[in-house]
Amino acid sequence: MPAGAPPLMPATHQDRFETLGASGCYGCHGASERSNPMLNGSKAMPEDHYVDGSSQTLELDPTHDQCNTCHVQG
Ligand code: HEC
Ligand code: HEC
Repeated sequence: MPAGAPPLMPATHQDRFETLGASGCYGCHGASERSNPMLNGSKAMPEDHYVDGSSQTLELDPTHDQCNTCHVQG
């Protein structure tokens, strides 16, 4: 995969986007006041996935709410 390309969703993620939506993804990979990512052991989303390009907003940028258009199921 070329550098900078969105990583694939691992096999464990089959049907996750359809069932959980972006807020479900956020619940593990997103930032909270306590931790980033919320789920220890998952990967933090890049800053550009957030409103104002900052995870401190704790809010997903609307341009990034269709996770599976970029992160294809592997
Ligand atoms: C229950 C927690 C959880 C949810 C919900 C979740 N993920 Fe993950 N995700 C993980 C964990 C843990 C890993 C790393 C371990 C693995 O491979 O499963 C991971 C790995 C990934 C990776 C691979 C990262 C890399 O560097 O290779 C991508 C991309 C990803 N998730 C995207 C998503 C998207 C998009 C959603 C929503 C459809 C989502 N995840 C929902 C926990 C979660
Ligand atoms: C417009 C395309 C696009 C959308 C939509 C998008 N992403 Fe990404 N994402 C990327 C790219 C590109 C990267 C890799 C950035 C880099 O390597 O610098 C990335 C990286 C990530 C990573 C970091 C993986 C690592 O290995 O560090 C996670 C986690 C992630 N995205 C989760 C999500 C989740 C969850 C959503 C939906 C809420 C989402 N992304 C929506 C393009 C996108």
